[in-house]
Amino acid sequence: MTAKMLRGRVLSFVRAPLGPDDSDSYRYFEDGFVAIDGGKIIAVGDVAALPGPFDGEVIDHRPHLILPGLIDPHIHFVQMQVVGSYAANLLEWLNNYTFIEEQRFADPAHGARIAGLFFDELIRNGTTTAAAYCSVHAASAEAFFAEAEKRNMLMIGGKCLMDRNCPEALQDTPQTGYDATKALIGKWYGKGRAHYAITPRFAITSTPEQMEMVAALTKEHPDCYLQTHLSENIAEIELTTSLYPDAPDYAGVYEHYGLMGPKSLYGHCLHLSDREVGMMAETGAVAVPCPTSNMFLGSGHYDLARMQGAGLRTGVATDIGGGTSYSMLETLDTFYKSQQLSGNRLTPLMSFYMMTRGNAEALSLESKIGSIEPDADADLVVLNAAATPAMSVKMERVETLSEELFLLQTLGDDRAVVETYVAGVAMKAGLAG
Ligand code: GUN
Ligand code: ZN
Repeated sequence: MTAKMLRGRVLSFVRAPLGPDDSDSYRYFEDGFVAIDGGKIIAVGDVAALPGPFDGEVIDHRPHLILPGLIDPHIHFVQMQVVGSYAANLLEWLNNYTFIEEQRFADPAHGARIAGLFFDELIRNGTTTAAAYCSVHAASAEAFFAEAEKRNMLMIGGKCLMDRNCPEALQDTPQTGYDATKALIGKWYGKGRAHYAITPRFAITSTPEQMEMVAALTKEHPDCYLQTHLSENIAEIELTTSLYPDAPDYAGVYEHYGLMGPKSLYGHCLHLSDREVGMMAETGAVAVPCPTSNMFLGSGHYDLARMQGAGLRTGVATDIGGGTSYSMLETLDTFYKSQQLSGNRLTPLMSFYMMTRGNAEALSLESKIGSIEPDADADLVVLNAAATPAMSVKMERVETLSEELFLLQTLGDDRAVVETYVAGVAMKAGLAG
C-alpha cells in the first residue's frame, strides 16, 4: 500500500482570476484532503465528503495551506555562485562575472556538486518544476538531468549554445552544439520526468550559422522547448540589431529562424514594440519576465496589463543568478511592487495562479502539474502563513484567503515552506541544514 492522504486547507486554481474576488477561478477546501497513490493525485475534496476511513498513511498539515508545487520557468542552475554580483547592467554582469563563473562547469565534479545544491534550494523553496539553463558544457546538463532523475522531479533543461561574443572556453560551434544537443535529447528527453529545452543563450552569442542549426534542432524535435533571452536591456537590444541588420527588430531575429511558437520561452521581454508583442502573441510564444533580476540589473519593467491585453502568454520566474531569490513568493512580491510603479494591480489570486497553474500553462504542462486534480502529478507545497514572528503577528489580523495569500507573498520565503512533495514523496524533511 503506497497510498497516502494529506490533510490541510487545499487551494488550486482552475483558470486565471478575473478580479480580486474571483472565487470561481479556484477550488478551496477549508477542511480538505489530497489522496495520492503511485506519484499521482487520485482524489481531492472535503474531508466530510470522504466515504469512510482512509486506507493508508494520513499526514496532517492542518492548519496550513496545500497548493500545487511552485513552478519557475526561467532559472540558471550554473549561476548559484553569481547571485549578488555587483554590476551596472546586464552586459557588464555577463562579462565580468557570469561568463567567468560558467567556465568552472567544464569540470563535471563541479557541475555535480552545484546540481545537488541547486535542487536542495528549489525544494527548500517549494519549487517542484523549473526550466533551467545549464552552461555550454554537456557535462553540466548531464549533472542537471541526473540530479533531477534521482529526485524524480519534472524538470526542463538544456545546454547553452554559444559560438561568439563570449570567452573562447565557453564557445561551441554550430556543429558541436548541434551534436551535443542531439545527444542530450537522445539520452534524457522522456527519461523519467525530463523535458529538454534547446537553448541558444541569446542572439548576441550565436552566429547566424548557429541559429540555422537551432532552427534545424527545433524542427527535428518539435516536442522540445526552445528557451532564450529577449529584449532585456537597451544596450543588448542595440547590439543585437547591429549583429542582425536585416531583422526588423530583436524578436524578428528569432522569428526569422522559425523560433516563435507555443513551446518557445523568452526570458524578460521588457522593451518589446507593438509589432513584436503582436507577432509573439499570434504565434503563442511565451514571455517570461523575471522581476527580481529585472530590478537587480536595472533592466526595466514588464508591463503585465499591456501584454495580457495583447494576448501574450506570460510566465514569471526567478532568473537566478541575475535574480536575487529562489523563492517564487519573493519573486511575485517583487512583481507586485514593479506593477505598482506603473499603476497596474496584481491581485493576490493572480500571483498565486501565476506561480502554480499560470506557469504550468506557460509551459503547456497544465494537464500534469500546477493543479490539484485527480490524475495530476502529486507535486505539492505546504505553506504556513504564520511561519515567522512577523508573519504570525500579522496573521492575527488576517480575515480572508486573499489576505493570507498576500501575507505569504509579502513576508514569506523558504521559511514559510513546511513541506515540498515531489510525485507524492516529502522532500524537505531530508534536506541538510
Ligand atoms: N542574457 C543572456 N544570458 C543571460 C543570463 O545569463 N542572464 C540574464 N539575466 N540575461 C541573459
Ligand atoms: Zn536568464
